[in-house]
Amino acid sequence: MPELRWVGKEKVVNHHLDVPFRTLRNVYTFASEGHAAASRGDAGGNKIIHGDNLEALKALLPEYEGRVKCIYIDPPYNTGNENWIYNDNVNDPKLKKWLGQVVGREGEDLSRHDKWLCMMYPRLKLLRRLLADDGVIVVSIDDTEVHNLRHLLDEIFGSRNFIANIVWQKRYVSNVTAKFLSDMHDHILVYSRNIENVKVKRLERTEEQLKDYKNPDEDPRGLWRAQDLSASKPYNAGRFEIVTPAGLTVTPPPGRYWRCNREQYDKWIADNRIWFGKSGNGRPMLKSFLEELKNGITPNTWWTYEMAGHNKEATLELKTIFDGASPFDTPKPVKLLSQIFEHFCSKDSCILDSFAGSGTTAHAVLKLNQQDGGNRKFILIETMDYAENITAERARRVMNGYGEAGKRIAGTGGSFDYYEIGQPLFLDDGNLNETLCIDEIRRYVAYTENIPHVQQTARDNPHTSYLLGMANDTAYIFYYEPTRSTTLDLEFLSTLNFKPAASVIYADNCLLGRAFMQRHHITFKKIPRDITRF
Ligand SMILES: C[S@@+](CC[C@H](N)C(=O)[O-])C[C@H]1O[C@@H](n2cnc3c(N)ncnc32)[C@H](O)[C@@H]1O
Repeated sequence: MPELRWVGKEKVVNHHLDVPFRTLRNVYTFASEGHAAASRGDAGGNKIIHGDNLEALKALLPEYEGRVKCIYIDPPYNTGNENWIYNDNVNDPKLKKWLGQVVGREGEDLSRHDKWLCMMYPRLKLLRRLLADDGVIVVSIDDTEVHNLRHLLDEIFGSRNFIANIVWQKRYVSNVTAKFLSDMHDHILVYSRNIENVKVKRLERTEEQLKDYKNPDEDPRGLWRAQDLSASKPYNAGRFEIVTPAGLTVTPPPGRYWRCNREQYDKWIADNRIWFGKSGNGRPMLKSFLEELKNGITPNTWWTYEMAGHNKEATLELKTIFDGASPFDTPKPVKLLSQIFEHFCSKDSCILDSFAGSGTTAHAVLKLNQQDGGNRKFILIETMDYAENITAERARRVMNGYGEAGKRIAGTGGSFDYYEIGQPLFLDDGNLNETLCIDEIRRYVAYTENIPHVQQTARDNPHTSYLLGMANDTAYIFYYEPTRSTTLDLEFLSTLNFKPAASVIYADNCLLGRAFMQRHHITFKKIPRDITRF
């Protein structure tokens, strides 16, 4: 497979491994009016995180690695426009600082595209780790970077996991000031974690589409839609003569063909599937019955603004929520994201958006849940300070309801936790950061030991408050106290009121003999030396 090279690439390919692991600090928990008040830090799964997504994605790994069903991202398109409320290109001071630290002096000579690629690469690497085995990543992009992004996604997710490049019609009228051609569409790239496991849901027909179904001949099979029996595609033996019920002989118009051969036509006639109009002399039409469309519409890659909304619609949606103000320049329409989530998620999926902007993802998730009683969850990450007063505020307003009296949109209800990026788990000298909450450290160690989420235990478990969890008949014990040094010895073992077949025990020191540990299948790991860093 051809590989994309750019200046600075070698500095970022493994950068996701060097990003320090930080905790997420819960700032507040929001619950909508009438929604059962969620306890602090436990809003049931919805999260909004203020901070750089590189650190936030890393902080999500212990809880979410391999658990996210759908990632939707709408990263800066890198069009060179610096006048937007957020910086669309890579000259944002935060990004410049980050590039300086990671790429070093070479970073000063990077082109705009090099910088964008350096920014995207480690973030996509972390996103892949968060994706479930049957999950998909969906990325909005325009022509400025689509070719580079395809290469990145091929490299990180594997070209065999490519699903589609959807063309979304983002504008409904041409831009008359365009220099050459008016740019009417965005690309929506879809890749899977593992193509064998992906299911794409077919959507039901909309009210609008159902209007085409009628039953003028009172067919007992119910409503049907007429489809012209002739088509421009040359069907095999599709130019024979047909005699209408009123006795007229017809052949397909010039350049067209019947969409069947004679044998199939006779079968359709016998089954009353050909309609010649009320007069019996009209153009032959094939009946397609509503009842037979059980599988819904086969999704395709051409998404018009009628089905998926357009940019102006997205701006109007935001204005309605923010009382006429337009606080964000480049939102996506709710319809577009709803359609993505309907195709690629189930009703209880976890959906992650690490370039959250105005929070359209939260809006679409809440609305879909309201419509179909689903329990989808959202995790949003936004680096700019408007994470609170635009991203989170939008989620609050959608949950509580918004709009003027008379045109008020009912609230969806719901709750979310709001986080800032917390402290690093390890200090620069390699020691554990002892000011951290012990549960954060426990969660991290449990994660590095691959203890499945459901097998992790809380500190108030019946065995010992030091137990992290059980996996493969092995007990994982984290004997750690921030204020004193701990020792694995016979005295400590006597405090355990259970006898696991094998155990991995973390402590500051160990006084047990090698033979004793072998006999009792105990593995000692020294704090902090043996805590894996990833
Ligand atoms: C195109 S906008 C997303 C718009 C969004 N889809 C919506 O409908 O409102 C991209 C967003 O990503 C944010 N962003 C850029 N770099 C980021 C980073 N490193 N971490 C988190 N957010 C970032 C920008 O601040 C901006 O709000």
